[in-house]
Amino acid sequence: MSLPPLVHTEAGRGRPLVLVHAFPLDRTMWRPQLDGLADVARVIAPDLPGFGGSPPAESWSIDDAADAVANLLDRHGIAEKVVLGGLSMGGYVALAFARRHAQRLAGLILADTRAEADGAEAKAGRDKTRTVALEQGTAAVFEGMKAKALGDTTRSRRPEVVETAAAIADRQPGASTAAAVLALRDRSDATPGLAAIAVPTLILVGSEDAITPQSAAQTMADKIPGAKLVELPEAGHLSNLETPDAFNASVRKFLANGLGS
Ligand code: MLT
Repeated sequence: MSLPPLVHTEAGRGRPLVLVHAFPLDRTMWRPQLDGLADVARVIAPDLPGFGGSPPAESWSIDDAADAVANLLDRHGIAEKVVLGGLSMGGYVALAFARRHAQRLAGLILADTRAEADGAEAKAGRDKTRTVALEQGTAAVFEGMKAKALGDTTRSRRPEVVETAAAIADRQPGASTAAAVLALRDRSDATPGLAAIAVPTLILVGSEDAITPQSAAQTMADKIPGAKLVELPEAGHLSNLETPDAFNASVRKFLANGLGS
């Protein structure tokens, strides 16, 4: 299904670095990267359907979102190959993009995400989350996942980061979150495509990530040829917000040395 055009924010010049946000947030979660990486890349942060400024879609899939990112590049005349990064849900979109638009990729950054599809238990959990989104709104959804979405260190020592993430979630319409839950629940298993990824890949994972733990990152690293795995200390699932300096330093190094010539 073709989605309405995605809204985005960008900063900087040079090689396009597209960053796709997590659930149930929006492009503003990339503020530390828009600010911190604009000297080395053209950082482009889209909003997925119904989040931030992007128009809602009653139903959409992760593959639709990957195509919408490709469409965003077309609309802005970005023909050169991009580095595509995604965190969690954004990582699912990045993996779908790698499968569907491989020729547009210069590199891939998979942060706090996994390749596997949801199992039966996770799918049942999605249905409950969807009900919470529709009946109580996105703030309630985030409240329910907060203890897992942010690492122990962040929750005990960086309350302002917890507040930032919760404030972003609070702005998202419940119906948009409900639609995204279905996209998450019904996404396909990206594992079979990992061996075919032929671009340099950086895998990042917070050492305290309780949603997509190191084991999920390691599985991707084992299967994607030449992938580099970096664990970010004292970061949980939302590692780009929790330890932005370490996150940005890894991305910077990847852009400078990891992409080849
Ligand atoms: C996210 O952070 O995007 C979500 O935790 C992803 C998921 O629930 O699978």
